[in-house]
Amino acid sequence: MDQVKIAPSILAADPLFLGQALENVKDADMLHLDIMDGHFVPNISMGPAVVEACKRGSNLICETHLMIEKPERYISDFISAGSDIITLHVESTPHIYKGIQELKENGVGVGISLNPGTPLGVLDSIWNEIDLLLLMAVNPGFGGQAFIPAMLEKIREARSLIDSREKNIELAVDGGINRENVREIIEAGARIIVAGSAIFSENNGENWEAFRKKTLE
Ligand code: DX5
Ligand code: ZN
Repeated sequence: MDQVKIAPSILAADPLFLGQALENVKDADMLHLDIMDGHFVPNISMGPAVVEACKRGSNLICETHLMIEKPERYISDFISAGSDIITLHVESTPHIYKGIQELKENGVGVGISLNPGTPLGVLDSIWNEIDLLLLMAVNPGFGGQAFIPAMLEKIREARSLIDSREKNIELAVDGGINRENVREIIEAGARIIVAGSAIFSENNGENWEAFRKKTLE
């Protein structure tokens, strides 16, 4: 089994102490940055300036998860901010391929995300372009929601589709992951675990250590 990676989502961190939050998770594998526009999802979060600050305040790979309508309008801003991987939702644009091309032209990792209700079949014509598949296990927009149990089967299906291909595609799962369910999600096939509230809600440092221990056991 490939090594499991942990990607803390700073959405759940206290913005007043973002630098401290980054310091607490400096041993993580990557950072997950949730960008929300109040249109594609009901919530508004952060923009390129925060991505840029995270790049300055951390040595970790930054994966920018764009939950915004027509993300191709802002891809260049998030590239300039220093994103190493940018993840686009197939549901957010009629021109997903345009976005993929822009990422490739700029040497930025291509992430593709699917909402819980979007079938894996939409990936049929773009599998070869994907570096990271981010399966949402909650309806995107807010941290702290419950993991949707039906997503376990989707993770298993995605795992077997990925394993049947030559290209190595990272399988990331996002939403509702905590110490209690993380092992089951890894066993289903996830290799990047995105977690916000399980890591950052109070007792920052302690939660991170406990989550990491459980995930990597
Ligand atoms: C939800 C975001 C997630 C969120 C996860 O729309 O994409 O990355 O931060 O938060 P938790 O781990 O609290 O579900
Ligand atoms: Zn996310």
